[in-house]
Amino acid sequence: MSKEIFNPTRFNKSDNPDFNQVLENHLSRRKILKGGLGLSAMATLGAFGLAGCGSSGSSSSAVETPPEVPQLQLGFNSIPGSKTDAVSVAEGYRAQVLAPWGQPITADGAAWQDDGSNNANDQENAMGMHHDGLHFFPLNEAGTDGVLCVNHEYIDQNALHPMGSDKDENGLRSSLDQVRKEINAHGVAVVRIQLQDSGEWLVIDNDPLNRRYTGATVMDIAGPLANSDMLVTPFSPDGSQARGTLNNCGNGFTPWGTYLTCEENWPGYFINTAETTAEQERIGLDTSGTTRYGWETLAGNADEMDDEFTRFNVTPNADNASQDYRNEANGHGYIVEIDPYTENSRAVKRTALGRFRHEGCTIGKLTQGQPITFYSGHDARFEYMYKFVSAAPWDPADANPSDRMATGDKYMNEGTLYVARFDADGTGVWLPLTLTGATKDGGVLADHFANLAEIILNTAGAADLAGATPMDRPEWCSIDPVTGSVYLTLTNNTRRNEETGTNAANPRLNNKFGHIIRWDESESMTDFSWDIFVFGSDAGGDELTNLSGLTEFNQFASPDGLAFDARGVMWVQTDNGADEVEDYTNDQILAVIPSNLTDEEGNQTTITSANQGELRRFFVGPNGCEVTGLTMTPDYTTMFVSIQHPKNWPYSSNAQEETPAGMALRPRASVVAIRKVDGSPLGV
Ligand code: FEO
Ligand code: CA
Ligand code: CA
Repeated sequence: MSKEIFNPTRFNKSDNPDFNQVLENHLSRRKILKGGLGLSAMATLGAFGLAGCGSSGSSSSAVETPPEVPQLQLGFNSIPGSKTDAVSVAEGYRAQVLAPWGQPITADGAAWQDDGSNNANDQENAMGMHHDGLHFFPLNEAGTDGVLCVNHEYIDQNALHPMGSDKDENGLRSSLDQVRKEINAHGVAVVRIQLQDSGEWLVIDNDPLNRRYTGATVMDIAGPLANSDMLVTPFSPDGSQARGTLNNCGNGFTPWGTYLTCEENWPGYFINTAETTAEQERIGLDTSGTTRYGWETLAGNADEMDDEFTRFNVTPNADNASQDYRNEANGHGYIVEIDPYTENSRAVKRTALGRFRHEGCTIGKLTQGQPITFYSGHDARFEYMYKFVSAAPWDPADANPSDRMATGDKYMNEGTLYVARFDADGTGVWLPLTLTGATKDGGVLADHFANLAEIILNTAGAADLAGATPMDRPEWCSIDPVTGSVYLTLTNNTRRNEETGTNAANPRLNNKFGHIIRWDESESMTDFSWDIFVFGSDAGGDELTNLSGLTEFNQFASPDGLAFDARGVMWVQTDNGADEVEDYTNDQILAVIPSNLTDEEGNQTTITSANQGELRRFFVGPNGCEVTGLTMTPDYTTMFVSIQHPKNWPYSSNAQEETPAGMALRPRASVVAIRKVDGSPLGV
């Protein structure tokens, strides 16, 4: 989300060391770090692996020497910036709006109305609002038929309701249907789509696989917090379930064919007006006034069902947790697994992967017999980068399991959660968040937590104690399938100042443009080497800002969505927060093939003024939007992206006719399907 309509974090108050490394250190060091990485292809999951569709699968993990192939090159020229109520894409490409907010996907809701009059039930059976991360799960080898899973991050109340929100001057809500509609506009949509002969994609109405997961859908809890006292609520007396998934931002997918949706800015949906716990204080739960949308203000309404509104107020007001909702927020902040191929399957919250503002969840290089790594960033200023390493070693036979959620149980319930410390010498260490994990003061986490569930509940607090490196807002992460390097977007951090200091991995004060960092895991997977691949900047930025020599044709700010395709093309999406770039272009997608950028010795290099032409602008979104989420068909002929919070898009000439709520029209976040006009693989 780019519109900072609420403060996503309490400032991380931990006193982790900042290394006070200056940019010169970074600049002198960056060239020597990436040695030793040959270009032999490693079998990885790949960003667009054909997982779980019953095919032979591209997700097997044997390391093989591939035949020599010509070096892949981008096959388009960088396009200029654009600031219009339309998308802009490279020459020879076409873009189609698909599955916009409000499009019915199951038979139980009424048709879309452009006056905002659809009710809560309609919304529960239609595409949600503010599309974000998404993934295509193919149902045939060609990838012309499949299931699209789409996150719906948050809502725009003015567009959602005919006259905007009903909240009064005190933030109190009055319409049950409005609040239920808002809850139903959150979550995830699962929808069957097929490619027509015309080259257009079609949503299959009422397909049995179509379904919605909303902010109220019952989900199971798995991992260390399952059946914990800390999950007990009147709705779930044994602590085995939670209701709803909220603020689903980035995403991931597994080699066994499931979707991972990530709960990001969920703390703002809950309030505790009494004394907060250390964990609530650390994560930043609301403590006064009303929550982000005020859903809890309908608590006790005569028509409330199953405490559907009461549960958002986590203030203890009864004798124990089975009588009030003090633990409701403890059921949020997780990676949630969904089986897209099984009708109406129950979603599961995988607590072992930590509880924080998860941006995304990306699986690292897969190797038979080795654990699976899941990377996930905490998107808030001065927060951390995490990884979870499964206890179970990867068995390629699990790529096509009979029970996908049982396979999730196998790999995602037991393992070790780590947080990253980036050291100034270009190395880094993964710090285990376990009872025996060391704290920076020489103790262990068991000095502060009674069990693993307590550590997970306050993951960020444990990471403070361990001595993690505060980052400039970790967003999406992706793995280069050619080199195995892990790339992470750090979107921006304008609060990094003289007082907070910089560190080597986040070296710019007032980092309004963001950067992309990358690392290579060591054999042991407990330490790594890192460098900064590219710094965002406007083309006119000074020498301390435009460190990668960007020009008009690739200037960008606030990298956010990030995805490698299985060929090694890295796609970067932006959620712009800098006027210098925004004055030139709307949010965009850039592409580069990092494994092509090498020096004479074959070592990987970073983006510099000498090679910056390899970073090319591919797509620009409409006015007001964020371009986010990226997935591709297995044959690379269609790319699906999300357009979130556009202003007047899809374009309407009625945009000047203001409604009483001030909403000029109802802009509709949507998926966009991008194809080459000739239907051949895109990007190259
Ligand atoms: Fe929802 Fe971190 O972007
Ligand atoms: Ca963002
Ligand atoms: Ca994001």
